[in-house]
Amino acid sequence: MSPRESNGGPIDAIIRRATLEEIIDLRHAVLRQGLPRHTAIFPGDELATSRHYAAIVRSPADRIVGCVTLHLNEWEAHPAWQLRGMATAATHRGHGLGRALLQFLEKEILATPSAPQKLWCNARVPAAGFYETMGWKIVSEEFEIPTAGPHFRMTRELKREDVKRET
Ligand SMILES: CC(C)(COP(=O)(O)OP(=O)(O)OC[C@H]1O[C@@H](n2cnc3c(N)ncnc32)[C@H](O)[C@@H]1OP(=O)(O)O)[C@@H](O)C(=O)NCCC(=O)NCCS
Repeated sequence: MSPRESNGGPIDAIIRRATLEEIIDLRHAVLRQGLPRHTAIFPGDELATSRHYAAIVRSPADRIVGCVTLHLNEWEAHPAWQLRGMATAATHRGHGLGRALLQFLEKEILATPSAPQKLWCNARVPAAGFYETMGWKIVSEEFEIPTAGPHFRMTRELKREDVKRET
């Protein structure tokens, strides 16, 4: 689960739940660059059912360098988690932080068997390979989201065995 050593050495980081306020600056910088800050706040972020997660490096001082959010939504009329705002700071990509964030939230979901075990997202095309590496499947044609570019819709059905194997 810990971020691996690669591209220049170990990263001393922790993954934990976070508040929207904690992650919004990173989400804004990575995913809504050049747009007003409020565009990085998504409808539903404030709901009690929404879950925000952060990857925090410890050195030289605590700093949030990765984030992701789950909104309780629907997939084909069944409850499902919509994954949103997945971002690793450009300075910290390729060190396993994105992987660690997804594994952390998947373990939390699996820990509550009554919670939906289905996830979906609108994945930016350049990030689709990342999600595929993490067990997600492309389930749509490419489509355009204004201001965010080309996307695929992707899904992941959680199974306890998958998460154990990938950890
Ligand atoms: C996509 C993103 C979140 C990945 O984060 P990251 O912390 O660099 O990812 P990791 O280092 O944990 O990578 C995990 C695995 O995915 C692979 N991977 C990462 N980004 C990838 C990409 N764009 N395409 C294909 N594979 C990718 C890595 O090689 C690694 O595989 P490995 O363990 O087999 O070597 C990051 O590149 C990012 O923030 N991009 C810009 C914002 C964005 O597009 N977010 C997604 C919006 S839908």
